[in-house]
Amino acid sequence: MLEDKVKAVITAMDFDEKCMLITGATSLETSAIEKYDIPQINMSDGPHGIRRLIFPNMPERSQKINIKGGDTCFPTASAVGSSWNKSLAYQLGAALAKDCKEENIQVILAPGVNMKRTPHCGRNFEYFSEDPYLSGMMGAGFINGVQSEGVGTSLKHFAANNQEIQRGSINAEIDERSLREYYLRPFEYALENADPVSVMCAYNKLNGIWCSENRYLLTEILRDTWHYKGMVISDWGAVHDISKCIYAGLDYEMPHNPQIKELLSEALKAGTLTMEQIDNAAASVLKFIYTVSEMSRTQPKEAYSRDNQHNIAREIASETITLLRNDNNILPIDKTKCKKIAVLGRHAVDVMFMGGGSSKVTVGSENVDIPLDEIKKKIPEAQIDYFPLFQDGFRDVNVVDTVSNLDDDYEYILFFAGDNYCGDSETEDYDRDNLYLPNYMNSAISLASEKKKNVVLILQTGAAVLPRRWEKVPAILQMWYSGEAAGSALADILFGDVNPSGKLSETFMNIDRTDLDYPGDGKKVCYNEKWNSGYRYYDKHADQIWFPFGHGLSYTAFEYSDISIPEPHRCRDNFTLTLSCKIKNIGDRSGKEVVQLYIAPQDNITDRPLKELKRFEKIALEPGEGKEVFFDLNERDFAYYNTCLHSWHTERGHYDIMIGSSSRDIRLVSRIFVDNEKDYTILPKNAPMLA
Ligand code: GLC
Repeated sequence: MLEDKVKAVITAMDFDEKCMLITGATSLETSAIEKYDIPQINMSDGPHGIRRLIFPNMPERSQKINIKGGDTCFPTASAVGSSWNKSLAYQLGAALAKDCKEENIQVILAPGVNMKRTPHCGRNFEYFSEDPYLSGMMGAGFINGVQSEGVGTSLKHFAANNQEIQRGSINAEIDERSLREYYLRPFEYALENADPVSVMCAYNKLNGIWCSENRYLLTEILRDTWHYKGMVISDWGAVHDISKCIYAGLDYEMPHNPQIKELLSEALKAGTLTMEQIDNAAASVLKFIYTVSEMSRTQPKEAYSRDNQHNIAREIASETITLLRNDNNILPIDKTKCKKIAVLGRHAVDVMFMGGGSSKVTVGSENVDIPLDEIKKKIPEAQIDYFPLFQDGFRDVNVVDTVSNLDDDYEYILFFAGDNYCGDSETEDYDRDNLYLPNYMNSAISLASEKKKNVVLILQTGAAVLPRRWEKVPAILQMWYSGEAAGSALADILFGDVNPSGKLSETFMNIDRTDLDYPGDGKKVCYNEKWNSGYRYYDKHADQIWFPFGHGLSYTAFEYSDISIPEPHRCRDNFTLTLSCKIKNIGDRSGKEVVQLYIAPQDNITDRPLKELKRFEKIALEPGEGKEVFFDLNERDFAYYNTCLHSWHTERGHYDIMIGSSSRDIRLVSRIFVDNEKDYTILPKNAPMLA
């Protein structure tokens, strides 16, 4: 038994050996201790590809981050979140694990599931969604995929790391309900549906206490409430007092802490830590090491094909690209007829397919699909003229002339634009100071849409950008940062070889929010808006929506019908409920639809979001094909977190169950009545009496 083996080794270890166990040997490796047959475990970033440190055993300070090329760069999380395809997240995880095994890496430091409190956060491209359920379920898919291949994961950054400005010092002030219902919820969903071998604590403070020292987070919630049994690792440099961390429930400090022995000895002498607590941390680490080494032993690397990895990256990317607008159905381009296209913007060649920071993957140029080249492959006989317009953050002096003088017989103007126009504007360690594209890019886009027909705007950003005078652009594709194969996936969609099925994983707004306390006063940032982020906010400010959460067009159309619950369906305590509805492809080409289920309380006396995503299913349908989709719900799906009860509570009353093609395109509604005995004091006027 693993527990017995761990206990026996910890009992045999001396203090020095235990200290050696609970901090990194280097910045990415654990310590091997031969005397006890404890192997070394190698870790690596990141969520969408491997970032290799060539010299892991050099001291952190002097270490040159020299990233080895060659590993696959998959779509980043915000893109994967827009696929709304849990099995695709699994597939990405499994493929990424294959790269890990090629590189002798046993743990990948991913996924990140933090909420997107503000679109300014520089790392939003690394996170799946603004919604806890979508984020948690995609994170679980990723974890299960990676671990199915015998590689470990690290669910991060626990918790409330929602900005990069002062991430290492800021104190996030969040009320208990907002924490439980929103900021912690994606971690809870992920842990309900997957079992990551580790959880990584965040850099910031939460309600005045470092996350690394936060016993409420690391013990009361993570272990006592959610019953997590794995290892808790610090973010790199997130430990300020290792003895306080271990007391709070942290097990492992990264990177290597050369003073750990002295610090823990002092804590033992001072009585602020017990040997039992140190033993518990060491045991947790040892269990992690044995578990991961057993996983890698039972799932050794198999035949590996870099081309196959690329094809998987392309398949995933094709489901992430989101068609936002397609006036007069100008897309897809008919490759049998199209003879002349203009391609504008340097992002058609210098494709931006990931953000900056620890998630950065250096990909050999031979593995990156260039959009312009991929477009040419689709229509080799056509005339395709390329106009870069911008070079490294500067516009060509004659952008206006170039755009104004484009031939009138171009059948399409494909306009590539992005926010990483020079360096990394979406990156770890920094937030975006504004959400617009550069002015010169915006003016060229609006000029083209005023002067030319069939302008297709293709956005290469990892997160929401604000539109500026784009009203007349007839077609807009959100390409996200969709990895090394983004260019070929885009061409597949432009020419209809793939029918777009992406749905926005975050709201695209038309104006920046001014109500948030962001980025705080340099010491604290107060989440006064509570859980009102993303569509939870924009449902109450619909005029600020450009494209809503869950929005994405297809080249076909889907009809929704026959929701199954007879109204009003009565439910009592601890109920479960199965709801079904029918979806039919009423167009002339196959496609995939994301059926989204939201729950909207109607009689709530507590302040709650107008609706919340609680289920989704992506289904593929041939032309004319229909399917019945089933959703199993339970009482918790209708509950809110009650801070007097310190538990989830379902108010008595009516709830609408909404089925939609986006959060603002609701197609079916069924109303149920929750007859919750705990709430007899509050009797809605028209509540049906008990039969
Ligand atoms: C970084 C990041 C974390 C990453 C770790 C190791 O600071 O916050 O996501 O996995 O350190 O590089």
